[in-house]
Amino acid sequence: MAIIVKDLVFTIHTQNSTYQMKVDNQNTLLHTYYGARSDETDFSYLIGFQDHGFCGNIPGTERERVYSLDYLLQEYSTAGNGDYRASALRAELGSGTCDCRLVYDSYQIREGKYSLDGLPAMFDSKESGAQTLEIVLKDAEEAFYVHLLYGVFEEQDIITRTVRLENRMDHAAVISRVMSLGIDFPTNDFELIHFYGKHMGERQAERSPMVHGSIDLRSTRGASSHQQNPFVILAEKMASERQGLCYGFSLLYSGGFHLQAEVDSFDQTRLVLGLDDEDFCWSLNPGESFAAPEAVMCCSRDGFSALSHAFHRAVMEHVIRSPWKKKRRPVLVNSWEAVYLDFNKEKILAIAKEAAEAGLDMLVLDDGWFGKRDSDACSLGDWFVNEEKVGGSLAQLSEEIHKMGLSFGLWVEPEMVSEDSELYRQHPQWAMTVPGRQPIRGREQLVLDMTRDDVIEYLYDRLSSIIDGAQIEYIKWDMNRSLAAGHSRLLPRERQGEVRHQFVLGVYRLLEKLISRYPDLLIEGCCGGGGRYDMGMLYYCPQIWCSDNTDAVERLRIQYGTSFAYPMSTISAHVSACPNHENGRVTPFKTRGICAMQGTFGYELDLSKLSKAEKQQVKEQTEFYKKHFALFQYGTYYRLNSPFENRDYTAWQYLDSEKKEAIVSVVFTDLRANPKTDILLLRGLKPGSRYRVWMDREEQGVYTAAALMQAGMRLPIPKENYDAYQFYLKEEV
Ligand code: GLA
Repeated sequence: MAIIVKDLVFTIHTQNSTYQMKVDNQNTLLHTYYGARSDETDFSYLIGFQDHGFCGNIPGTERERVYSLDYLLQEYSTAGNGDYRASALRAELGSGTCDCRLVYDSYQIREGKYSLDGLPAMFDSKESGAQTLEIVLKDAEEAFYVHLLYGVFEEQDIITRTVRLENRMDHAAVISRVMSLGIDFPTNDFELIHFYGKHMGERQAERSPMVHGSIDLRSTRGASSHQQNPFVILAEKMASERQGLCYGFSLLYSGGFHLQAEVDSFDQTRLVLGLDDEDFCWSLNPGESFAAPEAVMCCSRDGFSALSHAFHRAVMEHVIRSPWKKKRRPVLVNSWEAVYLDFNKEKILAIAKEAAEAGLDMLVLDDGWFGKRDSDACSLGDWFVNEEKVGGSLAQLSEEIHKMGLSFGLWVEPEMVSEDSELYRQHPQWAMTVPGRQPIRGREQLVLDMTRDDVIEYLYDRLSSIIDGAQIEYIKWDMNRSLAAGHSRLLPRERQGEVRHQFVLGVYRLLEKLISRYPDLLIEGCCGGGGRYDMGMLYYCPQIWCSDNTDAVERLRIQYGTSFAYPMSTISAHVSACPNHENGRVTPFKTRGICAMQGTFGYELDLSKLSKAEKQQVKEQTEFYKKHFALFQYGTYYRLNSPFENRDYTAWQYLDSEKKEAIVSVVFTDLRANPKTDILLLRGLKPGSRYRVWMDREEQGVYTAAALMQAGMRLPIPKENYDAYQFYLKEEV
């Protein structure tokens, strides 16, 4: 049994972790433990009740002066109670002041995992045997209820959390902060790993000590953002890939978020994670409730690899719904870096012809096919094909491409509008602008007000008619700017604080409608590359364009960071032309192929301009990827080293679930005179087995698993700048 309740001590066990809360004699829900699997001991014996001074005492405990919410470990803290740390909830319940104090009300255990209306959430399957624990807290004075929901995936070592607020008072509550999870640890033994970045440089892994005070990570951009990812790791100081206690926390949400990681004066650690609260203000009327997005937690005592494996499994089995997760993803060629906005039918067909000859599966027509889009300053919103440019209808183009044996995909950016567009001329009020103010433009475009039903309906009709009108197997769903002021003309002044969250709910509504109508459509998420790379999007799209930076070497760092939380099959990665369009670097064609096989593989260059030798490489790379797609898509992934720590090379490994086959990739990132020999330790092989090893299809010999894992594999000396090698291992039977 995963959830055990005894004397109001709630213990949740997963295979390798234990989580515990307890209702104390003041009716506060304390957090008592989260860590490696233990038993049902009431861990509140660890709390030292003391008068700490300047710590307010709750009513009834003043005389003893030792009971203070300012130092107690709580499950869901509130502002205004003399707890001065980061709070999980800031609610005004009628007095004008945020002073809600939550006490225990009731609990329920249910079979199966809860779901959330209108929000992405992990789902269970019959085999997963997930359970739900709901603990209801209530304000000490008012009929204001807080439902804490826990989804327990025992086998997967995953606990999900969310919160539902319910107003049973006769007046409105005003919520200015509602976090999806709050968690307190009694110690300060941690470091924080987070994934920061920028456009063309997403998810750079950074490990930093915690500080007394608070580390704030957030996105206020209306998307989860390039700048910070809604996933962090709290790690014991000695934790590494192979060992040590660490925790992963992820918000399954695609809009702005806020994470605070705080160490208090008593060396205790608190982490809260949820909706961005910078502009957030939600009026909850009598009878209404509010559901916060879901957060996902995992605790590993075996280091980061095990943590990532748990997240990868959770995403593959319980977040991604698309049937594509079980199918081989098409090897595609995308037109963007090949021709940008400057194309005609001949150019596209010339690329398609090469793609078909090289054995690719799909051609994706990126930006530029609609309205009068010859520049990126116009036409967003006018989702009508430019027949002059495309040389006829989309149906005709798609048919010609299909005749060559390829499937066809198309780029869209539904949430945006150009001022120079028919849509804007007809519906200027559909843009998210503030009356009386000049809008902030990004890429010269405005954001559509996705909180409006008429906007969603327009987009749904337009997109469905495009998909119905031509044979289209794939859609790339882009979003190329951040929100500035989140303003909707349909909402009164006092409700503008809802807009950013309502915007995301609108995006989800539209995606849901399209997915229900076209369940087999492969949707690739994108936001100027990876500016909306989160588990929320993966609920709708099984893969995401990882970055607009296609340079193989920079991708090593971006893909490394992405791999901590997200399965490799979600990472869309393409071979592009050199010098690279983003940073001018020149890398061998082979290296670009190997780096793009770190994710879902494809090309993004004008195949018709390649040399004969390069075309041959395209053929061979595509054949290799297709042959081993199961390893690339479903294999267990090991980061063998970190591109942030090792200047000389980056290496990674895929291993199939039966440990019969592995692919190890190595990319050299520096050249040395008089070089040393590098030795690489492999991971996860079957003890007692022997493996035949090929380097780039050249046989190297047979080695035992023990040798390869304990002593290692010798790497070749790089022959040129950014040289790369792919090793294939097969178990000897
Ligand atoms: C974004 C995407 C690119 C490309 C362009 C088109 O930047 O990330 O891949 O689709 O838009 O405008």
